[in-house]
Amino acid sequence: MNIILLGPPGAGKGTQAQRLVERHGMRQLSTGDMLRAAVKAETPVGLQAKAVMERGELVSDDIVSALIDAELAALDPAIGVIFDGYPRTAPQARSLDELLASHGRALDLVIELEVNEDALVERITGRFTCAGCGKGYHDTFERPAVDGVCDKCGSTEFKRRPDDNEETVRTRMVEYRAKTAPILPIYEARAIVRRVDGMADIDAVTAALERLIAG
Ligand code: AP5
Ligand code: MG
Ligand code: ZN
Repeated sequence: MNIILLGPPGAGKGTQAQRLVERHGMRQLSTGDMLRAAVKAETPVGLQAKAVMERGELVSDDIVSALIDAELAALDPAIGVIFDGYPRTAPQARSLDELLASHGRALDLVIELEVNEDALVERITGRFTCAGCGKGYHDTFERPAVDGVCDKCGSTEFKRRPDDNEETVRTRMVEYRAKTAPILPIYEARAIVRRVDGMADIDAVTAALERLIAG
């Protein structure tokens, strides 16, 4: 199964994708994670993307589509993919169609996480992730069982994203509304869009996604 998780910053795309990976052995392809890795490694892509990401604007379509192409090329087509944060523009949606076809895949579902924008700043400014394994947490909504120790890998180091401040979040929301939300009709025309209440608690959202995936 190949699924797109769509929703504004803080909707829960990464949180839910990590859970589906654990339960179903699917692969999460997050262009945000790939770009952050490129920034950290100071690759040519990372050097180009760094300032754009810090402003909360979108990186160029060609860069992100090339990242997805490389990942799909290296992946067994039998392993299902969850696209997290891609596609984000109409040209990216067109590229994804071509990439899926060229790598022997079809798109099964586009799941929109519906959220109230007022909640997103709180979600994003409270977010942190494990520096060891990347598991996501939240100061209020998803704390580790033991304070300061990752539930999954035991690491005691955590990090916060440089773009997780209120000002940048506002720009990211504007970008989402202007460029990403308008791609939904492309998939609505194919009758593959489903909606999930992203304001429910994290476990309830996972349960709703599981029902959709089970068909
Ligand atoms: P990206 O990394 O994709 O960020 P984003 O879209 O802004 O989304 P987030 O990762 O902030 O939100 P999420 O939905 O994953 O939320 P999460 O599950 O962590 O992109 C970053 C940047 O990279 C972009 O701004 C752009 O510059 C660039 N980029 C990336 N892809 C690109 C592309 N395709 N094209 C061009 N540029 C691209 O949840 C947030 C927090 O809330 C967590 O702490 C979590 O614990 C908590 N939480 C989650 N669900 C719930 C819930 N139901 N209830 C309570 N708390 C919850
Ligand atoms: Mg994310
Ligand atoms: Zn960890």
